[in-house]
Amino acid sequence: MFYFLRGSRGFFLCSLLFALLSTVSDLAGPRIIGLAVDKTIPYFDGAVYVALIAVAGAVARYLFRLMNAKGAETFVKRMRDRLFDHIEHLPFSWFMENRTGDIIQRCTSDVETVKRFVAEQFTMLVRIVALLVMALYFMWTLNARLMIVATAFLPVIIAYSAVFHGKISETFLRADEEEGTLSTIAQENLTGVRVVRAFGRERYERERFEKQNDIYTAAYNRLNLLVTGFWTAGEFVSGIQVLTVLATGAVFTVRGNMSAGDYIAFVAYNAMLVWPVRTLGRVISEMSKAGVSIERIRQIMDAQREQAETGKARPSMEDDIVFDHVTFSYAPGTPKILDDVSFTIPRGKTVGILGATGSGKSTLTYLLDRLYDLEEGQGEIRIGQTALRDTDLHYLRENIGMVLQEPFLFSRSLADNISISDKEASMKQIRTAAKIASLDEAVRGFAKGYETKVGERGVTLSGGQKQRAAIAQMVLRGTPVMIFDDSLSAVDAETDAKIRAQLKENTNGATVIIISHRITTLMHADNILVLQKGKIAEEGTHEVLVHQDGLYKRICEIQGVA
Ligand SMILES: Nc1ncnc2c1ncn2[C@@H]1O[C@H](COP(=O)(O)OP(=O)(O)O)[C@@H](O)[C@H]1O
Ligand SMILES: [Mg+2]
Repeated sequence: MFYFLRGSRGFFLCSLLFALLSTVSDLAGPRIIGLAVDKTIPYFDGAVYVALIAVAGAVARYLFRLMNAKGAETFVKRMRDRLFDHIEHLPFSWFMENRTGDIIQRCTSDVETVKRFVAEQFTMLVRIVALLVMALYFMWTLNARLMIVATAFLPVIIAYSAVFHGKISETFLRADEEEGTLSTIAQENLTGVRVVRAFGRERYERERFEKQNDIYTAAYNRLNLLVTGFWTAGEFVSGIQVLTVLATGAVFTVRGNMSAGDYIAFVAYNAMLVWPVRTLGRVISEMSKAGVSIERIRQIMDAQREQAETGKARPSMEDDIVFDHVTFSYAPGTPKILDDVSFTIPRGKTVGILGATGSGKSTLTYLLDRLYDLEEGQGEIRIGQTALRDTDLHYLRENIGMVLQEPFLFSRSLADNISISDKEASMKQIRTAAKIASLDEAVRGFAKGYETKVGERGVTLSGGQKQRAAIAQMVLRGTPVMIFDDSLSAVDAETDAKIRAQLKENTNGATVIIISHRITTLMHADNILVLQKGKIAEEGTHEVLVHQDGLYKRICEIQGVA
């Protein structure tokens, strides 16, 4: 909370100050009225003082609300900014372990809960405490015995508030988690709408959503039941307290132990006491919720950022890439995805990697991009003489271009998407890159050309067009290392050949890794690795491998390549 409060503390301090001023003016009124009733001061003077104090109180309240609202907005803005920034820097594996919908729920719903507490309840809490202390003091000076009667109820209220506080936290945590699951279902259905439609799963998904919604609603109903019970009990106790004070005070006054003016002032102060005690219940229940939300946000903020400080080496990327006895599994105790893999990609050469799905091809590229780091004893990857884990993370990724099988395009213009890594790129450069990726022709068919927004009504790109846009992205970057991870899978064989020929012409000097299950895509590579269950089963050029009696030859036969 203190971390997020940076920048808004000034507003909150001002708002607290004005809150205290307004409380003081609230408290002054009854005292003056009491004095006027007892004729200690003239009626007229009393009326003027009360009016002046009321105006001052109104101004203070206005400024209090203004400062409070400003503080809350500043606070919540910082919270969102910090959260987004932090999430942007979390390691890839964190995103694999956490559900998108749940993350979004924490960044929206939980942030909102904390904001509500800070905006409405936090200063209220301070005002309540101030009001309690001051009202009790005035009551003490008016009549100490009656004050003891009035406060006899406080311990009861505090005790049951404490009990409810724990229960409400617990129930709200459950409700909040259920909301996270609900968000995940909704988010996955939006993202995966094509799968849902293709498999006719609408009804199943709707039922799944409704079931989760039932669970979520039930959890919230339980929470409401608790909160309502809590408030009602509080009001009941307050009611009894007021009655007791009224009756006892009346007896005191009739017996002459207390003046009429003091009685009126005392009852007014007591009424002020009732409000904070009742509101305290609301504040405590809100505080319980805010505590849960802050904890869920803290879990994100506590997640370790990607370690950018591991190394600062910036080796020339125009150097050999060496995998040296690499053994890797995603988590301790899980099966080895790569098992003692060793190979070298000489600088400027092209290597092809062939293997069945799940054989660990993409994992190789994750390791090279340092989305996962090799631990002690898992072997080493080197660029020239430099161990990969000593390299500067940002520098490394800047120099490795990667085209994925399922590229992701932002809902911006095509030109913006292609020039995503180089905002300075001219239209001419963008078009040249698109030409090399065989995308230019298709784009010229669009009414708005390169200004077409991806995903805009009526224009969605085909899988192959998206892949080609991703290739254009990489061509524009002109990185010294280029990886094509199954990235020509969605284009026809002819376009595939055309793109490769154009790439070869325009990317001389680059080290290229081509991953594919299509022999024709990688048969011209300088070296071909055949990956089988995490091990390198065969290695060599097409000419060598095609004459060996192994997996490569069998796949050639299946695909009709001589
Ligand atoms: N992020 C991940 N966490 C855990 N296991 C993964 C992850 N990514 C891939 N795997 C597992 O690693 C194996 C190899 O996957 P991958 O390298 O993507 O294979 P390929 O690209 O050859 O199809 C698969 O069995 C897959 O289930
Ligand atoms: Mg893969």
